[in-house]
Amino acid sequence: MTFKGRSFLTLQDYSKEEILYLLDLAAELKAKKKRGETGHLLEGKNIVLIFDKTSTRTRCSFEVAVLDEGGHATFLTNSQMGKKESVEDTARVLGRLYDGIEYRGFDMNVCRTLRDCSGVPVFNGLTDDDHPTQVLADFMTAREHIGGSLDSMKMAYIGDGRNNVALALMTGAAKVGMDFAVGSPAELFPAESFMKKMDAFAAQSGSTLTVTTDPYEAVEGADIIYTDVWVSMGEEDRMEERIRLLRDYQVTSDLMAATGRKTIFEHCLPAFHDLNTVISREVARKYGAKYGLESGEMEVTDEVFRSPASVVFDEAENRMHTIKAVLVSHLV
Ligand code: CP
Ligand code: NVA
Repeated sequence: MTFKGRSFLTLQDYSKEEILYLLDLAAELKAKKKRGETGHLLEGKNIVLIFDKTSTRTRCSFEVAVLDEGGHATFLTNSQMGKKESVEDTARVLGRLYDGIEYRGFDMNVCRTLRDCSGVPVFNGLTDDDHPTQVLADFMTAREHIGGSLDSMKMAYIGDGRNNVALALMTGAAKVGMDFAVGSPAELFPAESFMKKMDAFAAQSGSTLTVTTDPYEAVEGADIIYTDVWVSMGEEDRMEERIRLLRDYQVTSDLMAATGRKTIFEHCLPAFHDLNTVISREVARKYGAKYGLESGEMEVTDEVFRSPASVVFDEAENRMHTIKAVLVSHLV
């Protein structure tokens, strides 16, 4: 297995063995941090973090991961990239200064150009169609809470079945042999071309992939119910359309109980589950009466979010440990 020098853009490029190796390494690094040991694995390494979309977890995880192991991170704001200077030229500059580049934005092609022109590893911190570091944290958390191997688990993803997190999770599941069901309106099913690729991975790993409009069918036998926001970054003008499509795909206690087994609840966060955000208050004010969303609960009810089944903050912590594993394996 060789990671050094590779770019981590999508789990489509990684084998089951490689994904499991990264998860094992993350568990080791987590144990090391819990013992209070500081490390030197990234000493002398400089990494630059570029965010064309907002972030809390990903940005902080990259920074803390690098600093924990003795490296240095630059959070680059207001750069010239794409505005006054081409991505190619910026990549050529950053490659002279840095050992690695993290990029979060819209288009995966920016990641590819950064990779091809910088000559250093590029790490995808979320694009319109993928979020590979998120999946590592979600799988690590599932292993911690459910026990056993990933290929004996089933995950049901309820909501926007074609967003970055849904597609990245399906990729990870199809690679590692986890059963995976999407419960989503037909308008938001993953594209046929994407499913073809996933079916090929699943045929190799033994994973069963299901796509259905019935959330109750999707969650049958699921160990993990997962959801994400109805409107992703960059799609903010689609709020009412998505509410109309996804109102019946909220993760409720009823849906959690319908799996017929002990089930954990996962969410990449941030989540809309109460009125404590500007956006959920605005949604409640504009669409609350029309769609029964006065409580600010959208993709998940507050009851499920705060229930003992909810492992969302363990996932958030595991973002850092898994990102650290990716950096250590790809940079050293
Ligand atoms: N889950 C996740 O990527 O969170 P941030 O958008 O806060 O980075
Ligand atoms: N699907 C969400 C994920 C945020 C971590 C978005 O892209 O906004």
